[in-house]
Amino acid sequence: METMKINTDSKRYPVFIGGTVLEELPDFIQALSPRVTSILILSDETVSSLYLKETAGKLENIGQSLHSFVVPSGDKEKSFHNYYECLTFALEQGLDRHSLILALGGGMIGDLAGFVAGTYMRGIRFIQVPTTLLAHDSAVGGKTGINHPLGKNMVGVFHQPEAVFYSTAFLKSLPEAEWRSGFAEVIKHSLIADEEFYYWLVKEVSGLQDISEDKLAYLLKRAISIKAQVVSQDERESGLRAILNFGHTLGHAIESKAGYGAISHGDAVSIGMRFALKLSESISGKNLHYNMISDWLHDYQFPALPPQLEAVELLETMKRDKKSTMGHVNMVLLEEIGQAYVQEVNDSFLLDSLQEFILTDKEQYSE
Ligand SMILES: NC(=O)c1ccc[n+]([C@@H]2O[C@H](COP(=O)([O-])OP(=O)(O)OC[C@H]3O[C@@H](n4cnc5c(N)ncnc54)[C@H](O)[C@@H]3O)[C@@H](O)[C@H]2O)c1
Repeated sequence: METMKINTDSKRYPVFIGGTVLEELPDFIQALSPRVTSILILSDETVSSLYLKETAGKLENIGQSLHSFVVPSGDKEKSFHNYYECLTFALEQGLDRHSLILALGGGMIGDLAGFVAGTYMRGIRFIQVPTTLLAHDSAVGGKTGINHPLGKNMVGVFHQPEAVFYSTAFLKSLPEAEWRSGFAEVIKHSLIADEEFYYWLVKEVSGLQDISEDKLAYLLKRAISIKAQVVSQDERESGLRAILNFGHTLGHAIESKAGYGAISHGDAVSIGMRFALKLSESISGKNLHYNMISDWLHDYQFPALPPQLEAVELLETMKRDKKSTMGHVNMVLLEEIGQAYVQEVNDSFLLDSLQEFILTDKEQYSE
C-alpha cells in the first residue's frame, strides 16, 4: 500500500493507494474524532451495482448506523436535483453534524458528495473512495460542486476530505474510454511538473487495461503528488493552481461546442494539450516534443479534433472560459517538459494558431 499526505492551509489528510486499502477503512473511521455517529455512502448506479455491497460490508459492524443513497450515472447527474435528493435523504435518516459521508465513485460522485458534505449543516466530514483513473485528479484538492444548466461546475465549495482511499482493485472494471479519459489527466500532470515521470510513462505504460497493480499504484502516487504540491501552495486557485488547466482551455471549448457527452473530457483535454504544446513551441522557438507526444497520444487512440469545429467558434468559447480575464484568453503553456506557466495570448495570434492546428490535424492526425 502506498500512503501519502496532502497538506493544505485548511487540512492535512492521507491518501491510501493499493489493492487492499479498504481493509483499513473501518479502523480509520473508528479513530476519527469527534466520534462518527452515522455513515452515508453516496454512489452512482453503475458503481453501486459493482462495489456498494463490498464497501458497505466493511462498515456494517463498526457501530455507526449505515445508510446508502444511489443516483443515476453520468456527468449530467451532478445536478441540483440530485444534490437536493441527497440532502433530503440525509435529513430523513437523521444525519447530524458528526456524521460522515463516503463518496464511492468517480469524479462525478466525488464532486457531488463532497458538495453535499460541504454544505449539509454547514459542513460535515467526508471520505473519498475514488473508482476511476480520472478521479486521481478530482479526489484530491477539495474542489466540490455541481453543474448549473448554464455551465459546468458553476456551483460549489472548497471542502477537503478526511482521507482518500484509492482501491486499485476497483479500477479493473473501468471501460477502455474511461481509462483513456483518466490517462489524459495523468499525462497532463507529468507535462506540467515532472519530466522524469513523463519519460517513465512513455517507457512503462504501453497499454492501460493490462497495467500491473504495482505500476498503477506508482502512477497514481506520482500524479497525485503533483496535484498535491500545486494545491498545497494554492488551495483556492489564486495563482499557481491555474497550471492544472493545461490543455483545458481548448479542451473545455471542444466539449462545449461538440456537445457535452459527444467527446469525453480526457479526449478533449488530449487535443487541448497538443494545441497548447504547439503554441508553446511557436512562442518559445523550442522543440517541446510536439510530434513525439502527438504520435504517442495517437497510439493510445486519443482522437483528432472533431472536423466540424471551426477556429472562430472555438476562440469565442475559449474567451468565455472561467479562467479568462476580461475576454482575454490565458493559456497554460510549457517552458520545458515539466515546467508550465500561464500567459495571456492575443486573439489574432490564437486564431491563426488554431487555424493552422486544425489544418495540420486534418492532414496528419486523422489518418
Ligand atoms: N473536483 C475536481 O478537482 C475535479 C477535477 C477533475 C474532474 N472533476 C470532475 O470529475 C468528473 C469526471 O470524473 P469521472 O471521469 O471519474 O466521471 P464519472 O464519475 O462520471 O465516471 C465515469 C463513468 O464510469 C463509471 N464508473 C466509475 N467507476 C467505475 C468502475 N470502477 N467500473 C466501471 N465503471 C465505473 C461511472 O458510473 C460513469 O458512468 C466531472 O464531473 C469533472 O467535472 C473534478
